[in-house]
Amino acid sequence: MNFHVMTLFPEMFLAADNSILGRAMQKELISIDAVNIRDYTLDKHKKVDDYTYGGGAGMLMQAQPIFDCHKAICDKIGSDKKVRTIYVTPQGKLFDQEIAKELSNEKELIFLCGHYEGVDERVLEEIATDYISIGDYVLTGGELPAMVMIDCISRLVPGVLSNEESAQTESFDDGLLEYPQYTRPEVWMDKKVPDVLLSGHHANIEKWRHEQSLERTKQRRPDLYEKYAHKNMKY
Ligand code: ADE
Repeated sequence: MNFHVMTLFPEMFLAADNSILGRAMQKELISIDAVNIRDYTLDKHKKVDDYTYGGGAGMLMQAQPIFDCHKAICDKIGSDKKVRTIYVTPQGKLFDQEIAKELSNEKELIFLCGHYEGVDERVLEEIATDYISIGDYVLTGGELPAMVMIDCISRLVPGVLSNEESAQTESFDDGLLEYPQYTRPEVWMDKKVPDVLLSGHHANIEKWRHEQSLERTKQRRPDLYEKYAHKNMKY
């Protein structure tokens, strides 16, 4: 899977070259190409933003550099199909595991990271196919949200996670939070690992973990618990 990111800060994406994503890049399962929008401005001072018509605080990213940057990426990809282009914005629909799963079926994905007060609407009308937010809060730019999405989508690409790592996904996939986990030592600060986990009785361990998942979800994420209960429990 190939990610193409339009950004004013391409160096921020070097941070992805680590750990699991770094390994996936080395294995050529994914690639991340961060393209500097500023390289495409026709302005002689390399300007990419300007004041908003109608007044108001802040600057807006201009249409021309973004459009030309997008065109260069599409030409490089060379597909005759329109490439899915995600504008990363707090005005988008909320990103979740289901959207990640859907996007992981694409071969190419383009992200547009906004800055300043936003982007000229006309270029969005031309290039954006999706508007996605990572949460109801405002960040200084779209780079971190794009990285969050790239990380989440990448781990769903076949081969990116080892078998052991992907087994973990399935336990979250059922819509419940994960149960508590413990490693050595058996006693730490007078706290003992729950007896059932030392029993070797797999059915009991599974049962305990499921109960813990239910309880934790009920306490911490009542919204998720409601959804789960509605889908899985008979009243
Ligand atoms: N840009 C700024 N804040 C954002 C958010 N919460 N989600 C997506 N893009 C953003």
